[in-house]
Amino acid sequence: MGDTDVEMEIISSDIQHPSTSTNTVLSTAKKTHNLPWIEKYRPQSFEDIVGNEDTIQRLSIFSKKGNVPNIIVAGPPGVGKTTTILCLARILLGPSFKDAVLELNASNDRGIDVVRNKVKMFAQQKVTLPPGRHKIIILDEVDSMTDGAQQALRRTMEIYSNTTRFALACNYSEKVIEPIQSRCAVLRYSKLTDAQVLARIIQICQKEQVNYTEDGLESIVFTAQGDMRQALNNLQSTHNGFEIVNSENVFKVCDEPHPMLIKNMLKSCLSGDIRSAYKVIEHLWNLGYAAEDIIKNIFKVIKTMDIEESIKLAFIKEIGITHLRIADGLCSLMQMSGLLARMCSQAKSQQID
Ligand SMILES: Nc1ncnc2c1ncn2[C@@H]1O[C@H](COP(=O)(O)OP(=O)(O)OP(=O)(O)O)[C@@H](O)[C@H]1O
Ligand SMILES: [Mg+2]
Repeated sequence: MGDTDVEMEIISSDIQHPSTSTNTVLSTAKKTHNLPWIEKYRPQSFEDIVGNEDTIQRLSIFSKKGNVPNIIVAGPPGVGKTTTILCLARILLGPSFKDAVLELNASNDRGIDVVRNKVKMFAQQKVTLPPGRHKIIILDEVDSMTDGAQQALRRTMEIYSNTTRFALACNYSEKVIEPIQSRCAVLRYSKLTDAQVLARIIQICQKEQVNYTEDGLESIVFTAQGDMRQALNNLQSTHNGFEIVNSENVFKVCDEPHPMLIKNMLKSCLSGDIRSAYKVIEHLWNLGYAAEDIIKNIFKVIKTMDIEESIKLAFIKEIGITHLRIADGLCSLMQMSGLLARMCSQAKSQQID
């Protein structure tokens, strides 16, 4: 959801409440109460965006000087791509933001006709802006645009380059056609580090007066895997559903196998104890977890375990092979048991060497 949507929601909720002072206070409280934290805490300026410092610093210099090139921000979900582009547009255009920005995302129709009509019309429109500033067309989730629509953008981008800039965001830059990439500066975002996610959620816990334990926040960071949106959503869901954000509650809400169980299972494999390892996997299976969830979790846990490098690599190889089979559709308990057996024998053969 874009910021404009939020604004519209806020405006419409204001209309419903007559503007007596108590009602205004109530409506303000209600408004923020109802907002999901991902929107409530969407950074409004570059300083609040965590991670990817170099890129953000470069953009912030651009934003001061104006004359920004066309850009593509590419990277995994929930790391601040849309947020960055909105901040950039807000800083560059200030009060003209409403008139001088056209935002289209995957929820809009963005076929070839829209590019031909809507985008072109907007690019042709006259808006008075300070010198060095341009209108901005934001194409979010551009990797979901058809090739035809992307092709139609090529010439538009060039023809209107003295009045309009394009800011594109996508998860996979390879899905953006080469000619568009060559017209833009490509900025790559990486996943956020655990420390960056943790620092941000601690801040938000303090603002929202969340009752939390240290292991609770660690679990949030673990489940998010560098995705800030997921971290905030998991934090809010756990906070709403339980009195306290601790590790147990987080895994209940996220419905993921508890990493402690997986860790114990991997430890059993390390000591070649297939029986104990199998008990864990059978338990998880009976709880109804899908093979895909379990295998993803095993990978997440092994990455963080402090074990000998060569064994770790051998285990990861086996986990990868099993994941491939699961992705192919073979998701039976037998596959998972096979994985355990192979890991046990890998651990044993390495010990003998
Ligand atoms: N780097 C960040 N710093 C602070 N908050 C962030 C950051 N990244 C994401 N968030 C939080 O997550 C929410 C979603 O971020 P955003 O919409 O920018 O993700 P995105 O990178 O565009 O993801 P997608 O690829 O799914 O569109 C933001 O509203 C904000 O609350
Ligand atoms: Mg986005």
